[in-house]
Amino acid sequence: MDTEQTTNVFQSLKQGADAYIKRRNQRLLAHHRKELRNFTRAEASAYLGIDAKTLDKYVASAQIDPRRHEDSQWSIDIAEMYAVRDLLQDSLRKEPKFVRSEKQSTQVIVIQNQKGGVGKTVSSATIASGLATEFHQEYRIGLIDMDGQATLSMYYAPESDLEGNLSIGDLMMRNFDLDDGETFEQAVSSAFLETTIPNLRILPASQSDRAIEGWFHEQVFGSNLSCPYSLLNNIIDSIKDEFDIIIIDTPPSLGYATYNAYFAATSVIFPLSITENDIDATCSYFSYIPQVWALLANADHKGYDFMKILLTNHRDSSTTTELMNNLYNHFSPYLYSKEFKHSEAVRQAASLLSTVFDMSKSEYPKSKATFQTAQQNSYEVTSQIQRDILNVWQAQEQA
Ligand SMILES: Nc1ncnc2c1ncn2[C@@H]1O[C@H](COP(=O)(O)OP(=O)(O)OP(=O)(O)O)[C@@H](O)[C@H]1O
Ligand SMILES: [Mg+2]
Repeated sequence: MDTEQTTNVFQSLKQGADAYIKRRNQRLLAHHRKELRNFTRAEASAYLGIDAKTLDKYVASAQIDPRRHEDSQWSIDIAEMYAVRDLLQDSLRKEPKFVRSEKQSTQVIVIQNQKGGVGKTVSSATIASGLATEFHQEYRIGLIDMDGQATLSMYYAPESDLEGNLSIGDLMMRNFDLDDGETFEQAVSSAFLETTIPNLRILPASQSDRAIEGWFHEQVFGSNLSCPYSLLNNIIDSIKDEFDIIIIDTPPSLGYATYNAYFAATSVIFPLSITENDIDATCSYFSYIPQVWALLANADHKGYDFMKILLTNHRDSSTTTELMNNLYNHFSPYLYSKEFKHSEAVRQAASLLSTVFDMSKSEYPKSKATFQTAQQNSYEVTSQIQRDILNVWQAQEQA
């Protein structure tokens, strides 16, 4: 084929793909308008840690009618749950609301592995929604989708919500004009969209963000950027006060998007699903990673607070145990002790673009016990990350 014929084939692939993606998105959106997570009376009382009678009293004083629904079953949604919790007297609240002190800085956690399909996106969404909803401190959580595949964005900001809003790619590539009197900080802040979880916002990717790597190559080639790794960091810096914790999902590659995510981060989590292939690929990544760090350190990154490996999609079997033993032999100081277990409920939630923390139990059509087990495991996984974050804040407070 000559160049013209090759161009034609690429164009034809593009047309097919665009049409396919359009249909898929329409289908997804038609079948799945995300609803707010809702709680039955028993779930609400367990969530808040108060008895059902006390719950009724506070629900009434929040002027919520839990039986207003068509089927008149008792149910409140997560926004109402937060309103009820706000009214609880301090002694009844499981934890006080977290207020970050001046000394404590926003924790920016990058979720990265160059290997594809190891659970980066599912872990990012689960950790973010877990930290937002399960600990009662109401941490202000930001999610950033650095992956032009935009899977994470589909969870919380489907394409239809993106219209008229800026994506992370638009912000990085300066693909926008400020309105009259608008500051850069305001533009960034409004690009973080509200989600179905009150204290979780997302800075989404759009399909057009795939252009980002090409854009960086052009800029670097034209010597237009003094430090090509610091663009995301500058964006995050401008809105740090609005968040306690920021989680960045990354693409399965080591391009400029990933370097920017690494550079902006204060800590790193490497998800790793336990198959021989994924471990091999991750080990060859780790054997190269000092070179990645050398570039970041050279650009003046000050070092990470914590760096951990999170085992994901873990299935109990003798092969897995053997692989785990090998991993512990070589990486034990860096391994989180709780693995993110393989679960049908997690898989199903992911296919509905949800996590077990922002989906209602009633939406999971199969066994409630499976859903509950997945929630419990995701809670344990998230707890160990919360502990690491709290340790960092504690050290900063005492410094
Ligand atoms: N704990 C789990 N239980 C069941 N399925 C899981 C679990 N974790 C991940 N998966 C499944 O594994 C697949 C890959 O996960 P995910 O998309 O998070 O990987 P990724 O590393 O983000 O992929 P990519 O590199 O393409 O961005 C998904 O289809 C997801 O449903
Ligand atoms: Mg992903």
